[in-house]
Amino acid sequence: MTLLELIKHRKSIRGFTNRPVEREKIMMCLEAARLAPSACNSQPWKFIVVDDKKLKNKLCKAALSGIYSMNSFCKTAPVIVAAISEKSKFLARIGGMFRGTKYYLIDIGVTCEHFVLEAEELGLGTCWIGWFNEEAVKSILNVPKNKKIDILIALGYPDWEKGPSEHSREPLDKIASFNSY
Ligand SMILES: Cc1cc2nc3c(=O)[nH]c(=O)nc-3n(C[C@H](O)[C@H](O)[C@H](O)COP(=O)(O)O)c2cc1C
Repeated sequence: MTLLELIKHRKSIRGFTNRPVEREKIMMCLEAARLAPSACNSQPWKFIVVDDKKLKNKLCKAALSGIYSMNSFCKTAPVIVAAISEKSKFLARIGGMFRGTKYYLIDIGVTCEHFVLEAEELGLGTCWIGWFNEEAVKSILNVPKNKKIDILIALGYPDWEKGPSEHSREPLDKIASFNSY
């Protein structure tokens, strides 16, 4: 599959089979994430992989209930990955302040997309989760209070019977132009 074919094939998966995900495959996703570019090569990220069933269930129950229950489908995922923002290098932080750009958030986005695309290549399904109880995740995974968890990734083998949503995207001529806005 070419990269573009892989990108076209990837869709958010919101239903997973109970087949466990091999550690070897998780490591490959992490390796893809590790190699992501970042502002000043800060690499301001850390991943916590939750593949212990009991812990994962506890995490989903605490972090994805109540106002977050639209994401309760994550309980079907055998793995939840928490992406934590670490401190960027001084230059990236100063540059970001001058530019008014949160480079670390761009960095987190890029590394997570590397993770997700590698998962896709390995036949795994993923869903980015931005709506969750962060304090609950911090408490269960022993993440210091001063850290930020911007994203969770649900990971597992897709349950195709539950079918992924269709891609719905703006046409190219609406989102891109040559030589002028
Ligand atoms: C930063 C971010 C946060 C997201 N948060 C959620 C979420 O909390 N729950 C969810 O079901 N999907 C979430 N998604 C997935 C998007 O809804 C999905 O990518 C989008 O609708 C496009 O669909 P597709 O991924 O199937 O192409 C998130 C995606 C991104 C990039």
